Amino acid sequence: MASITASYPWTTAPLIAGAPMRLISGPSLVHAISAAGGIGFLAAGTDVSTLSENLSAFKSLLSTSPIPGAPSDVLPIGVGFILWGADLKLAVKALSELPEPPAAVWLFAPSSSEELGSWANGIRSATKNKSKIWVQASCVADAIEAIKVANPDVFVIQGADAGGHGRYASAGLISLVPELIDAVREYYGNLNGGGDTSSFPSPPKFVAAGGIADERGVNAILALGADGAALGTRFLAAEEAVIRKGYQDAVLKAEDGGNNTIRTDVYDKLRGTIGWPEGYGGRGVINLSYVDAIKGVSFEENEKLYKVAEGAGDKGWEEGNARMTTYAGTAVGLVKKVAKAGDIVRELRGQRI
Ligand SMILES: Cc1cc2nc3c(=O)[nH]c(=O)nc-3n(C[C@H](O)[C@H](O)[C@H](O)COP(=O)(O)O)c2cc1C
Repeated sequence: MASITASYPWTTAPLIAGAPMRLISGPSLVHAISAAGGIGFLAAGTDVSTLSENLSAFKSLLSTSPIPGAPSDVLPIGVGFILWGADLKLAVKALSELPEPPAAVWLFAPSSSEELGSWANGIRSATKNKSKIWVQASCVADAIEAIKVANPDVFVIQGADAGGHGRYASAGLISLVPELIDAVREYYGNLNGGGDTSSFPSPPKFVAAGGIADERGVNAILALGADGAALGTRFLAAEEAVIRKGYQDAVLKAEDGGNNTIRTDVYDKLRGTIGWPEGYGGRGVINLSYVDAIKGVSFEENEKLYKVAEGAGDKGWEEGNARMTTYAGTAVGLVKKVAKAGDIVRELRGQRI
């Protein structure tokens, strides 16, 4: 069976993916990740209006700094969409205008199975099947549903520790990765009249996400049977991330992520990023906004205090005043310094920098 890196010929095993982080994963970050032999995902998120501009910016970076091994028919990156909020027609338009579409498209948080199916079909036809479809799923049931409507090339298995949005009801990677892989293989095996998926022309691959921040985490998910790792939180401390200094400093400072981060809708409500499907919340560092919400401070009062913090710029993340959202996963305590994204990728693969 071909390894996952065969489909992305500029990449080096083990495959390291930079998760699409809305507003944060821009052209420089994804270029740096892919140039180091990983695959960076540009975040379109819920707003597709800046996608063409970001893809053009990436292409000009690529023309000044080509990525060795990159194929000529696709861009050596992926693009990530948050389906409940993104406009499929705009996405199809932006991608079909490209002579070379991205090598992969990452689909997350559909409001229904039908929506996921429409996106997978729409993207495949817009890119003439050149973009592989990656679907991020946080539980076994979502993965099986995804097979029926989207037939993903890659499953991104999102564990409970993941930073940013994910399902409240989800398991840690140590149990989720093997169970989800077994369930998907069994499902395909049954479709194939029994037996395992090795007889399939191109069985799906599996990338694990959630709580991986260093080489030990990467080795662990490989031992569980995953083909690669996707990371968000660790890349918040990349030099190339589009991130406020206050946010990045708060990530570096936070530790003991199981104790000091929480998956909640408090931050979405205060920021006005509402509309997530039932069952999704965003994991971030616990701050005064969350503490006040839990204490019973009214939403109006909490929002007023949040707006004051927002007006204070980077100070809105400072101790004693920390109300600005710091989306990050439980691995935040393993993120100690800002580094070049390329060095992070190499370090995750076990190369000494
Ligand atoms: C700040 C931040 C923003 C994120 N934005 C997105 C997004 O726009 N689309 C998406 O599919 N996932 C998003 N995620 C979730 C990631 O896809 C991934 O599941 C997660 O980062 C993995 O866990 P980790 O943060 O522990 O590495 C985001 C994560 C973070 C930390």
